[in-house]
Amino acid sequence: MYARHAMPLWALLAVATRMVVAAGGGGTSSPAAIAAAEAANLENIRISYYLGWAWAAIVGALLSYRLTLAGIRYIRTIACLNNDEQRYFAVPSQTYSKIKKHVIDAPLFRKRHHREFNLSAAINMGTLPSRFQTFFLAGYLGMNVVFCVISIDWSGKQAAVLTELRNRTGVLAVMNMMPLFVLAGRNNPLIRLLDISFDTYNLIHRWIGRIVVLEAIAHTLAWTISKVNTAGWSVVGKSMASSQLIMTGTIGVAAFLGLLCHSPSPIRHAFYEAFLHVHIALATLAVIAVWVHLKTLPQQSILLAVIVFWIVERLTRVYTIVRHNVGNGGTTAEIEALPGDAVRVTLKLARPWRFQPGQHVFLYIPSIGLWTSHPFSLAWSEEEDSLNPEKGLALTQQDVLARRKTAMSLIVRRRTGFTEKLYKRADASPGGKFTVSALVEGPYGSQSLDSYGTVLLFAAGVGITHQVPHVRALVAGYASSTIATRRIVLVWIIQSPEHLEWIRPWMTSILGMEKRREALKILLFVTRPRSTKEIHSPSASVQMFPGKPNVRALVEAEAERPVGAMAVSVCGTGGLSDEVRRAARGVGEGRSVEFVENAFSW
Ligand SMILES: Cc1cc2nc3c(=O)[nH]c(=O)nc-3n(C[C@H](O)[C@H](O)[C@H](O)COP(=O)(O)OP(=O)(O)OC[C@H]3O[C@@H](n4cnc5c(N)ncnc54)[C@H](O)[C@@H]3O)c2cc1C
Ligand SMILES: *[C@@H]1O[C@H](CO)[C@@H](O)[C@H](O)[C@H]1NC(C)=O
Repeated sequence: MYARHAMPLWALLAVATRMVVAAGGGGTSSPAAIAAAEAANLENIRISYYLGWAWAAIVGALLSYRLTLAGIRYIRTIACLNNDEQRYFAVPSQTYSKIKKHVIDAPLFRKRHHREFNLSAAINMGTLPSRFQTFFLAGYLGMNVVFCVISIDWSGKQAAVLTELRNRTGVLAVMNMMPLFVLAGRNNPLIRLLDISFDTYNLIHRWIGRIVVLEAIAHTLAWTISKVNTAGWSVVGKSMASSQLIMTGTIGVAAFLGLLCHSPSPIRHAFYEAFLHVHIALATLAVIAVWVHLKTLPQQSILLAVIVFWIVERLTRVYTIVRHNVGNGGTTAEIEALPGDAVRVTLKLARPWRFQPGQHVFLYIPSIGLWTSHPFSLAWSEEEDSLNPEKGLALTQQDVLARRKTAMSLIVRRRTGFTEKLYKRADASPGGKFTVSALVEGPYGSQSLDSYGTVLLFAAGVGITHQVPHVRALVAGYASSTIATRRIVLVWIIQSPEHLEWIRPWMTSILGMEKRREALKILLFVTRPRSTKEIHSPSASVQMFPGKPNVRALVEAEAERPVGAMAVSVCGTGGLSDEVRRAARGVGEGRSVEFVENAFSW
């Protein structure tokens, strides 16, 4: 069946290939050799299709899984609107909960996934992929190895084997550049389509990158060995200097090697901005070199698709920036220094969007960070419907839109680069605050926990920015009976009580919400209190404790009250994520649990 669909393009490629073979092999080759090369070229195109179909199958499977989950959540929300007990949804399916526990939500081994391997406080050696991610990556690597070697006539002459291997690895390297570039983009359409986060795609991007580099190296080695055998090293050197094909191939593979060597976690995390600039420069160099290298080959069309996608991704960024920041006086950011090494950034967007929990933006402040952008979660929004009554009734539609200014806020923890400059400048400004013009790119991502009867939110430090919008939306939804949620527990772990200042006004507003007492419980854990006097619980629904929480006990206690399906969300350090993941998996077989992990790095 697939042959019928694929036929037109395939036929076109086959014709193109035949022309190339005829042109390249002219003169010296026998008719038998030309026929063999033609067959090998067709085989390579067929394998390119296999790779394409494999991707289609993966995306299709994940899409149907995601749509099924979305359907279930929708039905659950509707079914639970007027049901406070929701016992039916508290019990999980045995098979599904086992798959989740042992595959989907599992770390690779026992517990570790997002906790970093650190050589020292400054050197981050990266994290371990989860079990499912590892299966996927190992499977993809295995598939590529198979594709590199199948249907090559290994019993043939060494030179012939090397030629086939050279062509095969070259074709596969170019094919893999498609997913490599698509998955690297912030605007990768699969993020939304499959509801998989950018940091997961980033992981896959890194591994596909490694595969591309290995295939490019194999491609180069196959050529070099065969050249050395037939003509010697001096000719290898001469070809690199004189033949455009070989020269661009050499530049391309050198760029790939550079990309491989400068990307490991310690370098990436220690010098993120420098990494990013070098990465883009080397990737551009590689694409240009490979483009010229493929000049006469049908595979150039694959590279064209890669280039088009890359340009479209960049233009999408420009478009979202222009759309939300240009006109209406532009976007401004008020930056206010807070106790505990953080700043509050209040954004007044030229044209805001509808705020939703789980959104993050990329913030550009040219006067501080030039053209660089940094991701931050949107923690709060304030709609200012300040229609000025004095101006009378002559308000046009434009006036109304211009006045409906939404302020959106971020909390930014001071690190060592852009965020440090931001903090220092605010701290040195009169009153501890200043206003600058800014550009905001977004919104990216959004999450709804509306369909869960019980929602348990964990945050460590500045991870609270991700959870506050959920708390607000869930309490509001509970009060208006438009969601399934009946119990909300927020667990926030901070080092010192001064971090409470970060979100004080928003907490006050949440604590003043209608029916909040019935649904919301807040547990604060202060890990390094200066004295016990700092620890006091304002009320039964807001409690403060010294030290670290017993995550497992908290999750188990909530799991014992069967109110609907339970969501356990975490945003904070890798260590906390792993702890919460283990606790959620621990209760998953008796209770319907969804583990939701949010990471602040990639
Ligand atoms: C989806 C998401 C949401 C986030 N939300 C918040 C938030 O609400 N509040 C908050 O304080 N922090 C948040 N972060 C983290 C924040 O982006 C980084 O702390 C910030 O970019 C560090 O900038 P810096 O120049 O001071 O970093 P450095 O001190 O140079 O580096 C600190 C760390 O930040 C990483 N980093 C640096 N620049 C970038 C960048 N441009 N893009 C991605 N990572 C980078 C580095 O790899 C390093 O691990 C979020 C991150 C992500 C991915
Ligand atoms: C290898 O690729 C080149 C360039 O497309 C082609 O001319 C040649 O026929 C191919 N040979 C084999 C054995 O596939």
